[in-house]
Amino acid sequence: MFKSDFLWGSASSSYQVEGAFNVDGKGVSIWDEWVRIPGKTFKGTNGDIATDHYHRYKEDIALMAEQGLKTYRFSLSWTRILPQGHGKVNEKGIEFYNNIINECLKYGIEPMVTIYHWDLPKTLQDDYLGWESRQIVEDFTNYAAICFERFADRVNYWIVINEPNIFTELGYLLAMHPPGKTDMKLKFQAYHHTALVHASVVKLFKEKGYSGMIGSSIAYSNGYPASDTLEDIEACRRYYETVSYYNMDIYSKGEYPEWGFNYLKEMGVAPEVTLEDTILLKEAAKLSDFIGINYYQSNTLAYNPVNGVGLTVFNTTGEKGSSKESGIPGLFKMVRNPNLEYTDWDWVIDPQGLTQSLIEITNRYQKPLIISENGLGAFDKVEDGRVHDDYRIDYLAKHIKACHDALEEGVNLLAYCAWSFTDILSWLNGYQKRYGFVYIDFEDDNLPRLKKDSFLFYQEVIETNGRSILKD
Ligand code: BG6
Repeated sequence: MFKSDFLWGSASSSYQVEGAFNVDGKGVSIWDEWVRIPGKTFKGTNGDIATDHYHRYKEDIALMAEQGLKTYRFSLSWTRILPQGHGKVNEKGIEFYNNIINECLKYGIEPMVTIYHWDLPKTLQDDYLGWESRQIVEDFTNYAAICFERFADRVNYWIVINEPNIFTELGYLLAMHPPGKTDMKLKFQAYHHTALVHASVVKLFKEKGYSGMIGSSIAYSNGYPASDTLEDIEACRRYYETVSYYNMDIYSKGEYPEWGFNYLKEMGVAPEVTLEDTILLKEAAKLSDFIGINYYQSNTLAYNPVNGVGLTVFNTTGEKGSSKESGIPGLFKMVRNPNLEYTDWDWVIDPQGLTQSLIEITNRYQKPLIISENGLGAFDKVEDGRVHDDYRIDYLAKHIKACHDALEEGVNLLAYCAWSFTDILSWLNGYQKRYGFVYIDFEDDNLPRLKKDSFLFYQEVIETNGRSILKD
């Protein structure tokens, strides 16, 4: 059963909702720049206005209160607080986040704060190539110190970094995110720097004696072998060694899986790891209070020879079935699972995979867990002034049930944050891929908010502490 203090929540990120991209002293982030390069986002969409949460936060948080949310997960925009990435603090930025935090607390909603959700200050990219350099550790830690000094008196849950595995993959392997590179060695080095940042920030938080809980959120997909052939079983094992456990271990154990690391070394793409790194990473792994998991889908793995298929860009149009096979030659390829349904963006729908993920992470790391994102991106339609998003209700009900199954197996799950509260900007898919409980008409300059059927569904889930979906 869900504990009585279980945190039912919903999540967003600064760039995807705030808008006000050049208002009140905010500096320029790498996303402000990236969206202006032709062809980089779906039909050139950007977050200049987004949902205008910057000006509409009171209305949005009032809706959260009406739904009964126990927690609101949002991220801080680094360039709103430190327009140049370091140096002088922009008090207007601090004021905005104080307002959000205080507005949440007014309704008894626990603010869950992500310090970094991909909107790196452009100055740091220009000065030393951002995540490619170890210099990021110092700048990020100083930025986090300011966030703690200003907000930790009221914030009990801190997520240092959101999905470091995704932004380094999309930024350094697939060139779909800034800085738009395709260099495997750089990807693994940048990922290593994210782990160092996490570790340095966790250590600081603990040394300063703040009372809240701190962790980071990794995108996690459990894996299945595509068949019972030894080749596919081996491909699945290689996937865990170089992806799922690889990404998690460095944050939660302070070291990489041995086989995976050695393989990358042989390929000449392993990151440089110093003895000091390992000491810091291991210390922080012990100090972290929880593991954040963003779960959307599982992966089904098949044998991929050394001259096999490479990584390919994915479906950003919503044309079902348009994705191509993708993999890492010599390790694995990701194939379609014939037993499962897919979304219009070709994301597999697999609630049982969530139960499996929660159990395997618990078995491996023995830490409390937070689901910091889970949700369904879909085309929604307004009909007679309503949005009947039964498909989303079905998705969420099955995934919440999957959390319950994991709880029954002894997983210590503290929170579930559905992605997202209102419809938001999807980085590469524009405004047509919708996740929210609240529909926003982006064609209308007033950006009107409309509660979808899923809003009421989740309201009942929260009111009954999950019992409403367990009854059948
Ligand atoms: C996660 C991110 O990867 O998935 C979110 O943390 C993102 O920022 C979400 O929006 C859904 O992805 P997408 O590509 O469908 O918007």
